[in-house]
Amino acid sequence: MYDAINSKYTYKGTDILKNRLGIKDEELLKEYETRIVAFKIATINSAKLPKGYTPERLKFINKYLFGEVYEFAGEYRSENITKENFRFSEFEYIEENIKRIFSNINIEEMKKMSFTKFVEQISYIMTELNVLHPFREGNGRTIRELVREICFDCDYVINWYEINHDDILRVAKLAVLDETEQKKMLRRSIKRNI
Ligand SMILES: Nc1ncnc2c1ncn2[C@@H]1O[C@H](COP(=O)(O)OP(=O)(O)O)[C@@H](O)[C@H]1O
Ligand SMILES: [Mg+2]
Repeated sequence: MYDAINSKYTYKGTDILKNRLGIKDEELLKEYETRIVAFKIATINSAKLPKGYTPERLKFINKYLFGEVYEFAGEYRSENITKENFRFSEFEYIEENIKRIFSNINIEEMKKMSFTKFVEQISYIMTELNVLHPFREGNGRTIRELVREICFDCDYVINWYEINHDDILRVAKLAVLDETEQKKMLRRSIKRNI
């Protein structure tokens, strides 16, 4: 996990994220969080999402999915974080980098791309946003929801629950250096919406 003992986001002396449920047991928090967020993912289609693809939309998704669990949901993190020795972007640069990434998302262009190019673009978006890791928690699920929405707008579907979660994680970690495996996974999993 994160080296989070001295973080303002965690309960004193622990690496457990402060949460609205007041849970101070890691396993139990994980269990409740997983269930609540899965429910939120299932209902986000009925939410009034911001139009277009902007940083505001990503923030909205993070807040919608995690807002009942964490107070900081929907806000960019204000501390640096690492996972398994990988250090995500310095928090000071989140704002400018997220603008840069979203300025490279052009849905009208993506609709016209070949499938190969489309997959490359999705992979690029996933990797860039993952390396940035804009939120303190829930980046994986937030990014995957964004990708699901982009796919849908471009007449594709991706069902993340049909993909083995360990594989999703494995290719995401590799993608920091080499996106080959992530692109393969996306190629297999993105389908035409019929
Ligand atoms: N060692 C790593 N290197 C790069 N990315 C990683 C690493 N470990 C995890 N990740 C990425 O971070 C995501 C988890 O981030 P997190 O904010 O906890 O979101 P979530 O709880 O929704 O999975 C994973 O889905 C993966 O994409
Ligand atoms: Mg997590």
